[in-house]
Amino acid sequence: MNSKLKKIPTNWKAYEELSVIEKGNLLSESPHTLLAQQFNRSYLEKLCALSTKIRHISKTIEGNTFLKTLLKDKRAMLYFAQPSSRTYLSFNAACQILGLDTMDVRDSKTSSEIKGESPEDTIRTFSSYADLIIMRHPTMGFAEKTAWILSKSNREIPVLNAGSGADQHPTQALLDIYTLERSFENQGGIDGKTILFVGDLKRGRTVRSLAWLLTLYNNIKLYFVAPNELQISNDILVLLEETNTEYILGNSLTEYLNKADAIYMTRLQDEWDQEGEKSNLEESFQINKNHLKIMKNHSVIMHPLPRRNEISIELDNEPQAIYWRQMRNGMWIRAALILSTFGRDSLINHWKEK
Ligand code: CP
Repeated sequence: MNSKLKKIPTNWKAYEELSVIEKGNLLSESPHTLLAQQFNRSYLEKLCALSTKIRHISKTIEGNTFLKTLLKDKRAMLYFAQPSSRTYLSFNAACQILGLDTMDVRDSKTSSEIKGESPEDTIRTFSSYADLIIMRHPTMGFAEKTAWILSKSNREIPVLNAGSGADQHPTQALLDIYTLERSFENQGGIDGKTILFVGDLKRGRTVRSLAWLLTLYNNIKLYFVAPNELQISNDILVLLEETNTEYILGNSLTEYLNKADAIYMTRLQDEWDQEGEKSNLEESFQINKNHLKIMKNHSVIMHPLPRRNEISIELDNEPQAIYWRQMRNGMWIRAALILSTFGRDSLINHWKEK
């Protein structure tokens, strides 16, 4: 685990008995992927290397056939109680790459929850048929709760958090790290880089999870550019201070654009607006072709997607625009994560190129 981190977030207190925690610390050996904080740097590097191997092997029919043997005895349940395109599809595709069969519930109204079944019983039902639960849920901490419920049952199967509440999206952070690593492979890697986050940073769970992971790299600078009311939350700033990670808060995209190696745009997350709230992201938090002139030559533009108007479509085919590759990287890193979750990552070494 990140040895710089000693504290656990308060929403974990209820689940202290969970196997992912020991003496208040998170264990990287846990079967579950619940929070970005559970990863250490060597695990991230291992996972990125495994993703690259899977990506290369999948380029041939023989390679694809080999990959499909790795988890052909397993079944995955995709439980998405919130809308999703990329996360759902990339997890589903990752399962197909490795030969796992999948089942899904994409709307709680189509499960027996509508008849009054509790979420707890729903989870135990899923675990009766599947070997892995991949889940997205609107309730903060529900993935942790799911893992805790299963740890109390006689069938503790791994849980992968595919987004929970407005707080965590750990597998998005993994694919973002893989994308940054690939982007900077000829520039000394992620160490020493400046990442500029722009948009609704308060409710963007992808930014929150990625900020945690970036604390594992050396001499990182994080710039957070947002309207004051949508600025990154204090709990992340406390973490950055605890880990001696340099950061700046600002309101002007153009002021920081020429300093950034990666610009991470985000959309307005107004689905989290409270009653009567009408949040807004002005044009000054959007990027277009004119901004390319200000950016460093090697700098890249990322976005977890979906977007609204924060990245002009005229940028879509520019070399700096890597958000399409970022999205596809999600499939590779999620395949690597699933293979590692089942402890079968070493089987990849059985592949012999003909
Ligand atoms: N980035 C992301 O989580 O996208 P979806 O909501 O489409 O899954």
